[in-house]
Amino acid sequence: MSQGSLTSEQLAQWNADGYLAIEGFYSDEQCLALRQRALGLIEDFDPTEATSVFSTTDKSHSQDEYFLTSGDKIRFFLEDGVVGDDGQLTVPKHQSVNKLGHAMHDLDPVFSDFSRADDLASLVADLGFADPQLLQSMYILKPPRVGGEVIWHTDHTFLWTEPQTVVGFWVAIDDATIDNGCMWAVPGGHRLPVKSRFRREGTGTTDDVFDADEYDISEKIPLEAKRGTLIALHGTLPHWSGPNTSADPRHAYTVHIIDGTAQYLDDNWLQRSPELPLRGFS
Ligand code: FE2
Repeated sequence: MSQGSLTSEQLAQWNADGYLAIEGFYSDEQCLALRQRALGLIEDFDPTEATSVFSTTDKSHSQDEYFLTSGDKIRFFLEDGVVGDDGQLTVPKHQSVNKLGHAMHDLDPVFSDFSRADDLASLVADLGFADPQLLQSMYILKPPRVGGEVIWHTDHTFLWTEPQTVVGFWVAIDDATIDNGCMWAVPGGHRLPVKSRFRREGTGTTDDVFDADEYDISEKIPLEAKRGTLIALHGTLPHWSGPNTSADPRHAYTVHIIDGTAQYLDDNWLQRSPELPLRGFS
């Protein structure tokens, strides 16, 4: 069942918990079409584009550069440990990719249609966006056995607006379980102050740390999700996903949306060239 608008109970849950899961938001067909498109992009990708960033003399600089210039491109980010000393992949290409990012939603028609579904536009309006702008897309593969954890963080840390507006929309493309690395969150944690900000400095990046203590995750809960489930995550909600210890891949798609009425800071890591301005749902 597709959902176009929220009930008052759903809105109350969103406000109380900082997240909202809606099962069946996308159909199996929509999810499988996106999955097929992502695998097609990987098929066409030349891994030397990504492995070269591991094999230059100034490795961390070139990795930074590959990441920092990806805001308006379709790039392929590899799992740790899959590039050998000779600069070649040590596992098959399709198992080496951790994620695609960060502008598929503007550069690829299949991703654009998925990201600009009418139901998502309605949901975003219900959540209070006045001028939604689709900022960032990621297709996360989390390959079996190889896919690593994503540490506790908030998305506002990485995609900072004044005031805070970012919301992450995460879609299970495969069923997500505890074993294959589903997301976890701390309900209500979005009311706590954000602990850090990640931003550009010089040719690299830095973290402004406001509070060095770890998140209190004693109340964390797993957000297991069937294929097609959409989970909206408030920008200040701490979340985490575990490694994939199962034998199967766990694909997921996220699009992060900010409000055009807020100020997007010019030292945020993600920047667009003027030739590819941010767009909303139209
Ligand atoms: Fe996140």
